[in-house]
Amino acid sequence: MKRYLNYINGEWVESASGRFAVNTNPATGEVLGEVTQSTREDVDRAVQAAKQAQKSWRLVPAPERAEILYKVGELLKERKEELAQILTQEMGKVIEEARGEVQEAIDMAYYMAGEGRRLFGDTVPSELRNKFAMSVRVPVGIAGFITPWNFPIAIISWKSLPALVSGNAIVWKPASETPFIAAEFVRIYEQAGLPKGLMNLVYGSGSVVGNAIVDHPEIDLISFTGSNEVGRQINERAGGMLKRTSLEMGGKNAVTVLEDADLDLAVNGIIWSAYGTSGQRCTACSRIIVHEAVKDELERRLLERIAQLKLGNGLDESVDVGPVINRSSLEKIDEYVKIGLDEGAKLLCGGRIVTEDGLEKGNFYAPTLFTDVKPDMRIAREEIFGPVASIIPVKSLEEAIEVNNSVEFGLSSSIFTRDINRAFQAMQDLDTGIVYVNAGTTGAEIHLPFGGTKGTGNGHRDSGVAALDVYTEWKSIYVDYSGKLQRAQIDNY
Ligand code: SIN
Repeated sequence: MKRYLNYINGEWVESASGRFAVNTNPATGEVLGEVTQSTREDVDRAVQAAKQAQKSWRLVPAPERAEILYKVGELLKERKEELAQILTQEMGKVIEEARGEVQEAIDMAYYMAGEGRRLFGDTVPSELRNKFAMSVRVPVGIAGFITPWNFPIAIISWKSLPALVSGNAIVWKPASETPFIAAEFVRIYEQAGLPKGLMNLVYGSGSVVGNAIVDHPEIDLISFTGSNEVGRQINERAGGMLKRTSLEMGGKNAVTVLEDADLDLAVNGIIWSAYGTSGQRCTACSRIIVHEAVKDELERRLLERIAQLKLGNGLDESVDVGPVINRSSLEKIDEYVKIGLDEGAKLLCGGRIVTEDGLEKGNFYAPTLFTDVKPDMRIAREEIFGPVASIIPVKSLEEAIEVNNSVEFGLSSSIFTRDINRAFQAMQDLDTGIVYVNAGTTGAEIHLPFGGTKGTGNGHRDSGVAALDVYTEWKSIYVDYSGKLQRAQIDNY
């Protein structure tokens, strides 16, 4: 059986715990390998290696640091198909989406490599004569990453590439469900020539390894993507130590369909964002807010399309919807369907664990659609993270926006309309970090900020140039070449 070990200070090492956890393919139940389970001591070793490595890395010119990122991009490109296959086997998403995810990491590598020659600060006039003023970005130090399984290569690329180009070192705990793709990503850094100690991978549970990263006094910042519940705990623990925390904690994203929408386009957008990745995207559409004038027609067209979706192993190119990540996720989704029925929502299709057609060994849930859902029902407010969408009828754009904004989360939203005025009204009033017009709620591009408002985040963003704000401190520098003491705010007035 394949064994996966920690990567600390440039060496692949087993944890002294001697414990291993098995990893399985969510589509087939097949055991893929076993993974070392680390302790607080392993995290500390990783931090010491990171600390040592960062001392010299911070002094390497950013364009030189970026050369390694270009190499990372090239290696990812060369291995794109192989990485996509590993990703699908381990995480379950269909192969086309897995290829798209690897592409996201490639794009991010090249984009952030470009930042090596920018990393802009400001030069501004001083209020005094013969004095120069500027601000520059400097690295924060050691970044602790805790990442999820749903985008196991894209999300670590959003975090690690800006961190490294800015001169930081990393200690990373990937999700327990996707250890192998994590190892491959680290191997790419290794092959690209990243100096040892800058990227450290520590496998294990959130309660041991995750907490050890959050609590470690020498880790300067935490970047986390995952549930709101865990994010809040991290914020409390790390906040008490005055650490910077960048949190992305999910969504309850809605597509709004107005009565003038192109319904075929809206159906395409909904199917892709509600059932793609089996609904396991932070940006997945789980609410469909529809004008009552087109509700029946939209339902009819959606049901027609859902009936055509093929469930199965994501490695099969003809499959549209893969498995969900594990048994407990499957049970949670099923539990939400029962909650929806108890609350009085009308089930239009799905609503069951699929155990036939050779799918019984995997974690398959039938694409599910509820209608006549009220905005205050739990299925319309809580993140289900599975292929379940709820239709909420409304009477106007104003009501749609109110319903959209009524939930705890604020990651992504979308509106389908042909009316430019109403589209702009929605862009202005939808309270989410990402807004789409005439497209579904998924499909973020790496050069724009990714993150959200309210319970989705704490004001920081992954990816885009905004990511640099997470991984750098501002340093303001004044150079006085007047040869005398000049007192700001005093000598010039
Ligand atoms: C995500 O939801 O985490 C992925 C980004 C996207 O597809 O919009």
